[in-house]
Amino acid sequence: MVDLLLGLQWGDEGKGKIVDVLTKNYDIIARFQGGPNAGHTLIFDGNKHVLHTIPSGIFHDNVVNIVGNGVVIDPVIFKKELDNLSKYHIDFKSNLLISRKAHVILPTHRLLDAASETAKGKAKIGSTLKGIGPTYMDKTGRNGFRIGDFELDNWKEKFHALTRKHLSMLDYFDVDIQFNLKELEEEFFIGVKRLKELSFIDSEEYLQQAMQHGKTILAEGAQGSLLDIDFGTYPFVTSSNTTAAGACTGLGVAPNKIGNVFGVFKAYVTRVGSGPFPTELFDENGKTMAKVGHEFGATTGRPRRCGWLDLVALKYAVEINGVTQLMMMKSDVLSGFDSLQIATTYNYKGKKIAHLPYNIESKNVSVNYENVSGWKADITKATNVKDLPQNLLDYVKIIEDFVGVPVKIVSVGPDRKQTIFI
Ligand code: IMP
Repeated sequence: MVDLLLGLQWGDEGKGKIVDVLTKNYDIIARFQGGPNAGHTLIFDGNKHVLHTIPSGIFHDNVVNIVGNGVVIDPVIFKKELDNLSKYHIDFKSNLLISRKAHVILPTHRLLDAASETAKGKAKIGSTLKGIGPTYMDKTGRNGFRIGDFELDNWKEKFHALTRKHLSMLDYFDVDIQFNLKELEEEFFIGVKRLKELSFIDSEEYLQQAMQHGKTILAEGAQGSLLDIDFGTYPFVTSSNTTAAGACTGLGVAPNKIGNVFGVFKAYVTRVGSGPFPTELFDENGKTMAKVGHEFGATTGRPRRCGWLDLVALKYAVEINGVTQLMMMKSDVLSGFDSLQIATTYNYKGKKIAHLPYNIESKNVSVNYENVSGWKADITKATNVKDLPQNLLDYVKIIEDFVGVPVKIVSVGPDRKQTIFI
C-alpha cells in the first residue's frame, strides 16, 4: 500500500516537516507532482533546510527517495539542491532515484513563464517563475523533453529544436524579457551533467516491485489542493493535479493501492501569489499571523497573504482527496489571540452555502464566521496532548466535527520535535 500526504490549502502548509517526521515509518518517499515551485522546509538539530524537488525523506539513511514521473525537474535548480546537501554525505546514487518519464524544465520554459506573466499584466497568476506552466504545457501538448531523453545520443538536437521553438513563441508575447541564452544553456548543461550521475529508473515498475516485496511507501505532494489545476481556484492555480488523483498518475500507483491519506493544513490560512481568498485579513490580525508565522515564501521570499481558517474550503479539500487523517500545523502562531474566527458558510448568489462554489472571488462570496475563544499559553514547549490548552482542543474539535475526519497531529513549532501525536 501507498500512504499519501498532501496539502489542503494553497500550499505552504508544512508538508515537508511532516514527511520528515513520518519518514521513519517508511522505506520509500516519492514525490508525485510539481517541481521547484515548491519549497519544503525542514528544521532539525538547529539547522534549516529548504528542498524544492528532492523528496523530504532525504535526510534519513536507508530510505529511498523517488522523484516520480509527475514531477518537472530543472537540472540547474536540482544541482544547487544537491550541492546544498553535500555536507551530509548522502549516497544519492542509491538513495535518490529519478523517473525517466519526469519532464525537464528548459531555460526557455522559464523565459516563457516570465513572458506570459508580464503579458498578463494585472491579471498575472503570481507564478513562482520557475517554468512550471510552460513545461506542463509541453507535456500535455506532446512536445516535452523527458529525463529519459538524456540517455539518447542525440539529446542535444532535441533540446535545441525545442529551444528554437520556444524562442519563436517568445516573439509572440511581444514583451521585453532580457536574457543571455548562451549563459543559460551553459548553466543547464552543467546541471544535466550532474543529474546524469544519478540513477534514472522506470519508477512505476520500481514501485510495483517494492509493493510486492512489502515495502512501505509514502507519496509526497507539493503545493496544495486549492492550487490544483482542476479543483483549485482556476486560473490562479499551478499546472498539476495536487490532489490525491495526482499521486496515482504521478507515480503509476493504482487507486486501490492508496492506504491512508494524510491531509496537512495550517490552523489559519495563507496564500502566496494572486487569486481569490475569502477569509483573507487586511488588519492587525493578519499582520500578526504573517509576523509570528514568518509567512514569507520559501522559494520566492514573497510575503504570504494570511487569513482565518476556512472550514468550507477545508471540507472541500478533505472530500476531494478522501483524507483519512488530518494534521494541523502552526497552531503556536495563533497563541495570544483573544478570539478567533472560523469560516463555516459562504453567502453566494443570495444563498447561504456550505460548499466551495465555481467562483469564490470577493464579488461573489462573503463569509459567515463562528467566533471562538483563543488561547494565551505558549505551546511551543508542549510535548503531549495534555500540555495543550482546552481552547485549542476545542478548536480542534470544531474542525473534526465539521469535516468528519480526526486530527492526528498538532504541530506547535517548526522543529521535528515540536510535533504532538493525538
Ligand atoms: P507556478 O506553479 O509557479 O506557476 O505558480 C502558480 C501559483 O501557485 C502561484 O500563485 C504561486 O504562488 C503558487 N504556488 C506554486 N507553488 C507553490 C508552493 O509550493 N507553495 C505555495 N504556493 C505555490
